[in-house]
Amino acid sequence: MKKNLFFTILAVIALIACKQQPLAIQKTSERGPIGDSAMIVSAHPLATEAGLEIMRQGGNAFDAAIAVHFALQVVFPEAGNIGGGGFAVIRNKNGESTTLDFREKAPKAASRDMYLDENGDVIPLKSRLGHLAAGVPGSVAGMWALYQEYGSLPWSDLLIPAIRLAYHGHLLTELAASNLNDAQEDFKKANKYGTWAIKEGGWAKGDSSVQRELAATLSFIQNQGRDGFYKGIVADQIVKEMQSGNGLISFEDLETYEVKWRQPVTGEYKGHRIISMPPPSSGGVALIQLLQGAERYDFGKTGHNTSATIHLMTELERRVYADRATYLGDPDYYEVPVAMLLDPEYNKKRYSDINQKRKTSSEDIKEGKVEIIESVQTTHYSIVDREGNAISVTTTLNGYFGCKVMVQGAGFFLNNEMDDFSAKPGIPNMFGLVGAEANAIAPGKRMLSSMTPTIVEKDNRLFMVTGTPGGATIITSVFQSILNVIDHGMTMQEAVNAPRLHSQWLPDIIVAEKGRLSEKTQSELEAMGHVIEFRSGLGKVDAILALPDSTFEGGADYNRGDDYAGGF
Ligand code: GLY
Repeated sequence: MKKNLFFTILAVIALIACKQQPLAIQKTSERGPIGDSAMIVSAHPLATEAGLEIMRQGGNAFDAAIAVHFALQVVFPEAGNIGGGGFAVIRNKNGESTTLDFREKAPKAASRDMYLDENGDVIPLKSRLGHLAAGVPGSVAGMWALYQEYGSLPWSDLLIPAIRLAYHGHLLTELAASNLNDAQEDFKKANKYGTWAIKEGGWAKGDSSVQRELAATLSFIQNQGRDGFYKGIVADQIVKEMQSGNGLISFEDLETYEVKWRQPVTGEYKGHRIISMPPPSSGGVALIQLLQGAERYDFGKTGHNTSATIHLMTELERRVYADRATYLGDPDYYEVPVAMLLDPEYNKKRYSDINQKRKTSSEDIKEGKVEIIESVQTTHYSIVDREGNAISVTTTLNGYFGCKVMVQGAGFFLNNEMDDFSAKPGIPNMFGLVGAEANAIAPGKRMLSSMTPTIVEKDNRLFMVTGTPGGATIITSVFQSILNVIDHGMTMQEAVNAPRLHSQWLPDIIVAEKGRLSEKTQSELEAMGHVIEFRSGLGKVDAILALPDSTFEGGADYNRGDDYAGGF
């Protein structure tokens, strides 16, 4: 019976066939592409095109988000996910805002010390590679809940672009080929029966990625909604995969997974209203704390990325990240003091010891050897429509290709989000991902995130939609995208292109993008006591600015990734 259904669905997929459309050339001017009625910015041109296709058919921003989300699973399997989870911040056409939490959860059989050995030490890689690293995926339930609340076109139409891409294939970009090549050894370790992602001799730009098993999985979801994933054939495949590798996700975990609609965290910044993601993401709270600190200074006057501005931003960041490590976790399991952290009086006091000329040592800010270095692979998309709806979604498998386990027969990777918990509260695990009691592992709990999907209003109107991947650097990249526009008067594209920096309490350093900090600024910062380290790229911001003439400017991070803005 199940088999018949499988082949019927495959036949339907074949009928959906349609040739890939050539893409418009991405603009590279300092102003991003402009749309009168709609704008989508995502990590891949074909995902952006999937959303635009739905909007051209009359779909709204939420319909487009669903199409983009499923298309990213196909064309950006590094982080696009049905095997992962994420967060959405929504502002509808009436100006009402809400957030949707479809974060993964610890399986019911998870336990606090599951990644420790008999001496209480963290077992290397156990929370990162292989079946035991996977949390219960939330993405399909998230898209289904979004659709139930806001969808306008038939659900089945929204899956068509993704199914078409999976069934007929798409051509790999240079970056996509290189990401697949980097993970070959891990794919072999984690998949005893192999996966399409393993290729002897390696992948090259222009290779075709055809994913027929994934097309079948997507068509189950297309036909049965969330049940097409959390029950039936796909659920069978997930549980069988878990059992083959000592993973924990059970039928009960899948059936009982639920999303949460949560009140956004909000704050004011220089005449703008910030709407962002509450816990279990630390992103919104930390962003608003940072902006409360930034209100104290005139960064427009001290100048973009001057030593004076970078020093002050770093001093704010080290204090906010110290709070994050101590206080943030899943609010359903731990009383997160959100009101305290967002209280302007609290933050005024918190920042009162900042010395404008000299760096504070992170050791002086708070005792403890806590270090936060999360994996940097996630993805973000921002969407607005002609009716005035806006959605900002950051979504992840955690590491690139998650735990590297592809569900056999189902064609998608599972997340390794369990690594976002503190394997051992108070002590950094070997990947540096730590926190406190608030983020300890418990059955059914959501792991702490840094994802910061954000919407900004001005005078009660939509002003900006922003967000980025980047693990712990997400918060500071979103912070800079907002400062770049509001304080430094940049266009959206300039704000996205601008060099970024990052600091996070511990390690007690400033991270700068390689080749993008002048020697003069570097030596001025060093004279203040700062230690600078360099990384190849920080974040991939995909954002939209609502312009005064009611058009939308898309800012895609096409210098740091394959990201693409498109509108009409
Ligand atoms: N996995 C990255 C994050 O949630 O922040």
